[in-house]
Amino acid sequence: MSRFYVTTPIYYVNAAPHLGTFYSTVVADALARFHRAVDRRDNVTDGTFFLTGLDEHGQKIERIAKEKGIPPQEYCDGIAKQFVATWARSGISNDDFIRTTSARHQKAVGEMWARMQAAGDIYPGEYDGLYCVGCEEWKTDDDVILIDSQKSCPTHQRPVERVKEKNYFFKLSRYADRLLELYDRPGFIQPEARRNEVAEFVKGGLRDISVSRQSVKWGIPVPGDSEQVIYVWIDALTNYLTVLGGPNAVAAGGRAGELWAGCRHIIAKDILRFHAVYWPAMLMSAGLPMPAGVFCHGYLTVKGQKISKSIPATRVEPNQIADDIGVDPLRYFVLREYTLGGDGDFTYEALLQRYESDLGNDLGNLLNRTVSMVQRYVAGRLEARAPNATEALEEVVTIGRAAGQQAAGHWTHFSPSMAIESAWKLVRAANRYVDGQKPWELAKVPANLEPDGALVGVLANCCESLRIAAQLIAPAMPDVARKVMEQLGRPGDEADRWPIDGAFAWPGGTMALPQPLFPRFDPDKKVALLNKWLPPEVVASAVVGDVSGNTNKTNKTGAPAEPAAELDRLDFEKLELRAALVTACERVPKTEKLLKLTLDIGTEQRTVVSGIATVYPPETLVGRTVVYVANLKPAKIRGVLSHGMILAAGEADVLALSTVDREVPPGTRIR
Ligand code: ME8
Ligand code: MG
Repeated sequence: MSRFYVTTPIYYVNAAPHLGTFYSTVVADALARFHRAVDRRDNVTDGTFFLTGLDEHGQKIERIAKEKGIPPQEYCDGIAKQFVATWARSGISNDDFIRTTSARHQKAVGEMWARMQAAGDIYPGEYDGLYCVGCEEWKTDDDVILIDSQKSCPTHQRPVERVKEKNYFFKLSRYADRLLELYDRPGFIQPEARRNEVAEFVKGGLRDISVSRQSVKWGIPVPGDSEQVIYVWIDALTNYLTVLGGPNAVAAGGRAGELWAGCRHIIAKDILRFHAVYWPAMLMSAGLPMPAGVFCHGYLTVKGQKISKSIPATRVEPNQIADDIGVDPLRYFVLREYTLGGDGDFTYEALLQRYESDLGNDLGNLLNRTVSMVQRYVAGRLEARAPNATEALEEVVTIGRAAGQQAAGHWTHFSPSMAIESAWKLVRAANRYVDGQKPWELAKVPANLEPDGALVGVLANCCESLRIAAQLIAPAMPDVARKVMEQLGRPGDEADRWPIDGAFAWPGGTMALPQPLFPRFDPDKKVALLNKWLPPEVVASAVVGDVSGNTNKTNKTGAPAEPAAELDRLDFEKLELRAALVTACERVPKTEKLLKLTLDIGTEQRTVVSGIATVYPPETLVGRTVVYVANLKPAKIRGVLSHGMILAAGEADVLALSTVDREVPPGTRIR
């Protein structure tokens, strides 16, 4: 039987989830929910499987745990908790959750290694080259850019490291021809442009890759060589097999084999090469079949900059938004707003715009007016009823009958936005239908209120449109869909069943009073939400203005609108800038933006208040070295005596904290 198995990348535990990881996970979740709904309609059991999880090994995690002074496993457990909690509240319906530090995974990776070794594809050698710890990736001179004349990673904008160590290598170069053949398989890599990009890369020639690390301890040991751990990407990619029972179970076929054949990897373009080149080659080497394919989406950005864990200014907090407007509107927004495959810029304004128009004015309004009329005109009870011959000609009925099939086509082709649009075509048609039929006029003629009367027909068709719409939107907004169903007097789980093609017959229901699903925000409330969500004004930068006597305005991008007055060198020398180590950090009580930091400045400890709390949660700052203005007159801020200030980029919005790019002793003068 054909099955659908969908995966997200397993995320590094270097930080908590953000909107970028939320996006991939929600896309995969919606696809899984769509496939399960079709399975339910067709009485298929166990046809769909959805996996997400965490990538916990490697140098990056080893270093972070060390910096924080926490044993690595303990560190991973802490972040894992945050992921699990965020996904649970985001309606993520994964069937399994993989952590690469689990015993079952270690076993699977061992099997994978043994199979590749048995194929004669693993050999010892020496690596001497570049490595980006951010990417956990070997780099060539073609992969790096120069920043301040240092070879740097274009993704992480940080210098790459030179690594020279004994490693095991994988004979990747053997697989170039078979990979190129694989890319000809329709749909193996989507979208098409990504397929071409990968094919070009492989045609350019493949070199064998190093698949172990000597200088890293946090990983799975190479079988038979305790000096080495398996390269984190060999470890990580195998996760997709672990949950099916491991490579040997997949090779044996059965359910594991069927699921594997139906597997779709959802990823973004940062990790395309791993999934489209290294992974299939590893599978070929291990004598394993190919998954169904890889779908590569683009980046979500903030002001054009990729949302990423290492750039706090791009941080968008899904949990915060969920607290304020609910998680389903955010799921809806990311699925509807962006074309899967392209990049998309995120703004809170666009989110609120869609909340009000699509959710409030279209869907919310249709539900509200329909349920209210059923209450008012037929005492809340509407019997089962299919459209009669005249009604069947109405636009709303035609659209309703076709919508399920249309939306299904879009989900199957990885177009969530278009799939949702199919539901909205129906919702908008139903609103037009109400406007055109004017049920309030029909209600004036008693015959229209009979079970086969015109008013009852209009109401039943509205209810049926909403019922189908609920089923169509359930992959995107599971909770909202269930509530729509319940307001219609139907069982909530009916939302999780995909509509039958061409069907349109209201099955009957008793409705309670309507409950608004998307409460309106008055302008004040909207401003309050935006203020809460947007990165805060830096208290510190206001203080800088006082020192220089310069109230230089910045425009929205943070670039100066007019040049600052020029300073004498001597004036600049008056400013005492020093490297300071954050040794403790907590929120200033009853404030949203203020942090109280304790700084080690070499000679003493200082306390500083800084308005960066919404961009930098306190726990992210301890252990970091910041740029500190040491000779400011102390000032009391919200009852706390603040001595000096720390520097950050941005004015109205904090964009980034000023730090030093390698370790220097606390107190080091900066000039
Ligand atoms: O790469 N826009 O983990 P990772 C869209 N552990 N998607 C984004 C995004 C953004 N701005 N930022 C992150 C790793 N993502 C490896 C994966 S898989 C065997 C191992 C999503 O934590 C997107 O799916 O860096 C991207 O590919 C992934 O997070 C990278 O997550
Ligand atoms: Mg990454």
